[in-house]
Amino acid sequence: MQTSIKIKQNTFADDVTQGLSASPKFLSSKYFYDDEGSRLFQEIMKLPEYYLTRAEFEIFSEQTNEIFSAFNADDSPFDLIELGAGDGTKTSLLVDYFLKQNAGFTYIPIDISAKALNTLTAKFEKEFPQLRIQTKQGDYFKTLKTLGAKTSKKKIILFLGSNIGNFRQEQAKEFFTGLRAVMNKNDLLFIGFDLQKDPQTILDAYSDKQGVTDAFNINLLKRVNRELGANFDPKEFSHYAIYHPIEGAARSFLISQKKQTVFIESLNKNFDFEAWEPIFMEISQKYSLKMIEELAKESGFQIEKNFFDSKNYYADSLWKPI
Ligand SMILES: C[S@@+](CC[C@H](N)C(=O)[O-])C[C@H]1O[C@@H](n2cnc3c(N)ncnc32)[C@H](O)[C@@H]1O
Repeated sequence: MQTSIKIKQNTFADDVTQGLSASPKFLSSKYFYDDEGSRLFQEIMKLPEYYLTRAEFEIFSEQTNEIFSAFNADDSPFDLIELGAGDGTKTSLLVDYFLKQNAGFTYIPIDISAKALNTLTAKFEKEFPQLRIQTKQGDYFKTLKTLGAKTSKKKIILFLGSNIGNFRQEQAKEFFTGLRAVMNKNDLLFIGFDLQKDPQTILDAYSDKQGVTDAFNINLLKRVNRELGANFDPKEFSHYAIYHPIEGAARSFLISQKKQTVFIESLNKNFDFEAWEPIFMEISQKYSLKMIEELAKESGFQIEKNFFDSKNYYADSLWKPI
């Protein structure tokens, strides 16, 4: 069932070379999600500080009927396509309800992580034996093109878990404009946005007390060791997060604890680190409602409806092509 499009080693190697040769150094957050990274992300979602998953879970469990009505207003069969599906825990709430309403749909989760897709498939096949499911492993930027076929079947595209936060604002606009180009007028896009709130609440979500976020970031260095034969000493790097309230963005870094040189065997290359030099790991952009409205408009969509949790921490925004 699962197509196995593995990320080519040379793409990972190219990106690592580019990132560690740059000033300031960076690594792409899409490489967080190898098997261990996906496991650690499941731990992050359970952390008391990581409010995002609970907020979206609340929206899906308390407003399931409203979401279904908005998705299914024209009562036509649809493909439910999820970009970066992860373990699908929240989506299972929707799938369960849609099946009980006898909705005619096929669920198509897309993820770069084979581990995440395997976990999801095992769970969904057990819980929903009657569900039509087609998994696609790969980078959603690439997989998107294959969704472009202008079939008449309605597409409802899910982009949940504040995945969009990992894009800078201009990248987000480019991404949605690209999505708009493969969508028909009657298709829908459903996006999870983490909203701007008390900066401390946001910062805590990216620097938990148990150190799971630290391990999640450090795992990317271990992945470079495992897959590219590097000799990063994980003890010599530590995780540091900031939140910038004017930009509304949280950023994560790994900080070199001393002056050191790391050798990457498959690149046959040394990389020098100064004491306290950062590697930029991830951006997590937070949105205001005004920013969401502007982003929708600039990418060729209009907002059909916003769904909020009880604390107004989070919004799932339903967009329709203009
Ligand atoms: C923050 S998690 C969110 C998972 C899920 N959407 C949720 O709300 O719980 C991000 C997921 O997107 C996947 N991912 C990240 N970058 C990706 C990319 N470029 N292409 C496909 N999947 C990607 C990761 O493997 C991971 O499962």
